[in-house]
Amino acid sequence: MMILTGFMGSGKTTVGRRLAERLKKEFIDLDHYIVESEGRPIPSIFESEGEAGFREIEKESLKKIIKSTDAVISTGGGIITYEESRSLLKNNGHHTVYYLSAPFDALYDRIKDDENRPMLKGGYDAAKALYESRIAHYEAASHYAVDASLSVEETVEIIEDLEK
Ligand code: S3P
Repeated sequence: MMILTGFMGSGKTTVGRRLAERLKKEFIDLDHYIVESEGRPIPSIFESEGEAGFREIEKESLKKIIKSTDAVISTGGGIITYEESRSLLKNNGHHTVYYLSAPFDALYDRIKDDENRPMLKGGYDAAKALYESRIAHYEAASHYAVDASLSVEETVEIIEDLEK
């Protein structure tokens, strides 16, 4: 089916859930899957295992859920950190991978007060640098870039049209 990538706040979960509803497919959110299988929230994983520990869990979880070839899957914003995950996404052979792209300030406005996102602890400048360092990775891991500064419904329609 399809996989959504993009920076925090790009709407991967909201758009993914809506797409799954419209297409009558299962929806799998990678972050949610990790929280369920680990039995603890994401900030706790970062606290006890650090970012590197979280990335390992994330990479292994992606390998598992990517096998659900008939589901709509949303990923966490850092899934493109490892080359192995980028290449798994791009060359998965079943899912079309969409990069939900939007200008940094639009995204930061949506996420800045969320305490559930450990990668935002460094504030605006650090988050912006992270965003900039990731753009090329989202592009490398995905088949299409889609404008995610539009409304959820508009973004959903663009993806549906590309799937036809
Ligand atoms: C992260 C994004 C989060 C979550 C974790 C790390 C990142 O997902 O996986 O906090 O490194 O960008 P969302 O993109 O759904 O916020």
